[in-house]
Amino acid sequence: MNFLKSEGIKEPEEADILKTWYWTEKALYLLDQRKLPLVEKYVRCETVQQVRKAIKDMVVRGAPAIGICGAIGWVLGLKQFLKDLKKADLSKRKLEVFFNRMANLLVSARPTAVNLSWAVERMKKRAYEILKSFPERISKVDLEEINKFLEKEALRIWEEDLKANLKIAEYGKKILPEGGILTHCNTGALATGGYGTALGVIRKAYEEKRKIGIFVDETRPFLQGARLTAWELFKLKIPFTLITDNSAGFLMKKGVIQAVIVGADRIVKNGDTANKIGTYSLAVLANFHKIPFFVVAPSSSFDLSLEKGEEIPIEKRNPKEVLTCFKSKIAPLKSRACNLAFDVTPAELITAFITEKGILYPPYEKSIEKILALENNNRNES
Ligand code: MRU
Repeated sequence: MNFLKSEGIKEPEEADILKTWYWTEKALYLLDQRKLPLVEKYVRCETVQQVRKAIKDMVVRGAPAIGICGAIGWVLGLKQFLKDLKKADLSKRKLEVFFNRMANLLVSARPTAVNLSWAVERMKKRAYEILKSFPERISKVDLEEINKFLEKEALRIWEEDLKANLKIAEYGKKILPEGGILTHCNTGALATGGYGTALGVIRKAYEEKRKIGIFVDETRPFLQGARLTAWELFKLKIPFTLITDNSAGFLMKKGVIQAVIVGADRIVKNGDTANKIGTYSLAVLANFHKIPFFVVAPSSSFDLSLEKGEEIPIEKRNPKEVLTCFKSKIAPLKSRACNLAFDVTPAELITAFITEKGILYPPYEKSIEKILALENNNRNES
């Protein structure tokens, strides 16, 4: 992406190999993550409803990625609203009602990853900021201009995430030990602005010839590890070993795994972290076997409005996702199934957080506050 070059940041050479989405000003094209690795097909979204559906159905998934798509969905929503508007102008009040409806629509698509509400709130805030300098009634022509600024804001969110990923990889490679590294779910280009968080650290360490063996959890039931992480590593020609989720403990006991590294959907004030279901079990296992457990995330994944993990909303998905695999039944369809999409790992099981601002160690109340509250204040003041 050219914004990297303009800022002197080295563009990952493989950026185009992992072309997970693109934006044409008219539509957002998303590589359909439900179909990978068997089929590489893009889904075209040109309305906010289509973006919401793509997020809800997991055509696109991963906390930072759904945040970026939510921001672009906002731009598409306003575009459609203006197209349908019969009058030449409208009141700010009517616009506010529309903005709130659009924000609720997008945020309700998936409740756990804070990046989605963070990005949508940022778009709403930016919209209100711009509107301040306009009179009570705003013309359609002005609103079309305003939407161009909002489009820039959405692309800035994307750009910032990619830059954060590259910084995270630099910090992360320094603390990742050599040996067997286990990762869960998918935290690569598919899940982010383009390079990856936990998988970005692994990728960087491999590229810099660190002696690591990569182990990928298959991550039932959506198989983000088996289908998506494996697809990305295969495309990048990085060797890996796929394991079933229930192999992790025994591999740790045998001394095959030296560290676990995962992403995050929401990290709260005390460091408790929501991530893909199965993360908590890995953290407990790592703790028992005295293996470091790293959580990798950009600052947009931190939610300082919540005190502890119990407050994080956990998404429950359709039991059918557990009862079927690639649309084939693997249990009688009338069986009861529990499909919690995320779990919460208590802060005390986390060795360190790797962020674009640096590495955070316990006590997390303090280290998180120090790095992120400061940054949020600066953001609010600017
Ligand atoms: O349900 P998913 O696939 O959206 O869950 C994704 C995860 O749990 C990731 O680990 C997290 O979003 C971080 S992605 C950089």
